[in-house]
Amino acid sequence: MEFKIKALESVDSTNNYLKRLAAEGAPEGTVVIADEQTAGRGRLGRSFASPAGSGIYMSLLLRPDCAADCVQSLTAATAVAVCRAIDGVCGTTTGIKWVNDVCLSGRKLCGILCESTFRDDRTDWAVVGIGLNVTTRAEDFPEELRDIAGSLFTQTGRVFERSRLVAAILKELGALYPEWLASPSVCLDEYRRRCVTLGREVTVKSPQGDYAAEAIGIAADYGLIIRFADGETRTLRSGEVKISA
Ligand code: BTN
Repeated sequence: MEFKIKALESVDSTNNYLKRLAAEGAPEGTVVIADEQTAGRGRLGRSFASPAGSGIYMSLLLRPDCAADCVQSLTAATAVAVCRAIDGVCGTTTGIKWVNDVCLSGRKLCGILCESTFRDDRTDWAVVGIGLNVTTRAEDFPEELRDIAGSLFTQTGRVFERSRLVAAILKELGALYPEWLASPSVCLDEYRRRCVTLGREVTVKSPQGDYAAEAIGIAADYGLIIRFADGETRTLRSGEVKISA
């Protein structure tokens, strides 16, 4: 894939910026990257702390010829590509907390927010937003995230060049994307291997309240298979789980 990169000093959200370009007909492979986001967004309506100079905040425009519900699997494949990129540059062994948080030694390093539109049940475009904490220090995270979030610096004690990481992420994504298009389960085994949620007791958050279960598997569409104490199983396709033990 050919990338066309637009670098910005500051923007509200690279996803917002790229969604506008997508609506105007920007081609697949358009990338927006910013040194700082003033209104970085995460999943489930959360914000994503994006201080200047310390992270990678970027969005990639894809126009996959796939069903509208392929976005979850695209997000999972993106998480695998980001793990490969980080491990290649940093020599780490990153994991994935279901569904798409990239983590290292128990801390979330990177979040992925994939937003898409569809027409007649087919995906029109998908904006894949990646936020990776590179040199962020513990005290730079909002207080409520300090026990959860980390950066490559807090987890390895080393400072890695953001440009090398961006190049590696685009290279890995560019290589995996056509394979994923041909066969969305192409990285399922690797996703399962990297998934730190598997085999753990989890708390599932739902509008009806939280409930406990065990995470026992990843389904073919990257859904999380959970088992309740009474042996009943269910596959989650969205939302969030907290690892409790
Ligand atoms: C999450 O952890 O819930 C997802 C976080 C995604 C953050 C990235 S940073 C680049 C892109 N622009 C945004 O506003 N969000 C994504």
